[in-house]
Amino acid sequence: MSHEPEVVADGSVGLLGDAHGNLDFILSALVALTEAQPGIRRVWQLGDAGLVWSGHPSERAKIARIDSLLEMLGIDQLGCVLGNHEGYGVLAHRESDAVGRIWLSPRIFYFPHGYRMTTPAGVAIAVLGGAGSPDRSIRTPGRSWWPEEAPDDDTLHAFAQGGPVDILLAHDAPRSAALTATLTSGAFSDSGIAYATRIQDRFQNAAAEAMSDRGLILSGHYHQRVSTTTEIHDAEGRAVTVRSEVLAAETQSGSVAVLNLGTQQLRDVVLLDPPVARKRTRVLREVLRGRASERDIAARLGVTTRQLRQLRSGHLPVWSGILERSQALDGDEE
Ligand SMILES: [Fe+2]
Repeated sequence: MSHEPEVVADGSVGLLGDAHGNLDFILSALVALTEAQPGIRRVWQLGDAGLVWSGHPSERAKIARIDSLLEMLGIDQLGCVLGNHEGYGVLAHRESDAVGRIWLSPRIFYFPHGYRMTTPAGVAIAVLGGAGSPDRSIRTPGRSWWPEEAPDDDTLHAFAQGGPVDILLAHDAPRSAALTATLTSGAFSDSGIAYATRIQDRFQNAAAEAMSDRGLILSGHYHQRVSTTTEIHDAEGRAVTVRSEVLAAETQSGSVAVLNLGTQQLRDVVLLDPPVARKRTRVLREVLRGRASERDIAARLGVTTRQLRQLRSGHLPVWSGILERSQALDGDEE
């Protein structure tokens, strides 16, 4: 789908690695991002968000909770790149907007392959999701595996022809020794590895055609944090040197980062230790569900109901303070 690039503000955006529908990870990562970079307005998730899978009603509830937190934190959008683990059967029945985005809520959407953005300073950003599942043989077509996990030839061709790209939001990544070692570590069959590698070759060829020299490719999929600079080749053998930053997956260190679109500096955001994160997300869930009364939640957190209302309206300094208090309560409840 070709369209005028969407203009996105200069400055910083948040990045999330594979989330696989893990609500606690997404909630705590969004809080960690806003604490690391107050005022952040956009977060991009690099595939395998897993927010839509079977279409069960619980998925809508989960999406609504994430949307509430985004609103609270003042984040305008969570844009998700398509990964290999998305519910393509359900997504096929969802309507997309005029530029191909599938909106799951007022702030959360999936990017289509080939989506284009630009900053006022002229940094060209594009999206090319998808990857091959190396464990395809143990998955069930239509239930846990879909052929749409990899973009087709027409999509790749249109992407490659769409003009130079400075920053690519992807799910797959350029090949490197570290990523190949993961793929061949014994977890996957030879035919699964061959299939995933074939899909990765197609991704690399299209990326090599589209990327500007020293461009940045942001990826997930491999569930580990890897930074490399590498040469990739298009189908005719022409080479381009790119910087590849692969984020880790849910709850692993290296799964959350802040990217400055101007300098293209990437800063990893440290997630809290799991017990503290669990405590925080429990409080968050309660606030978002609105199950306990305002007064009860405020009493537990040691804040006033007025402060709690400020939290709901996205007043960040108060938010941070409340989280500190909730951390202090940790020992009482674990
Ligand atoms: Fe994944």
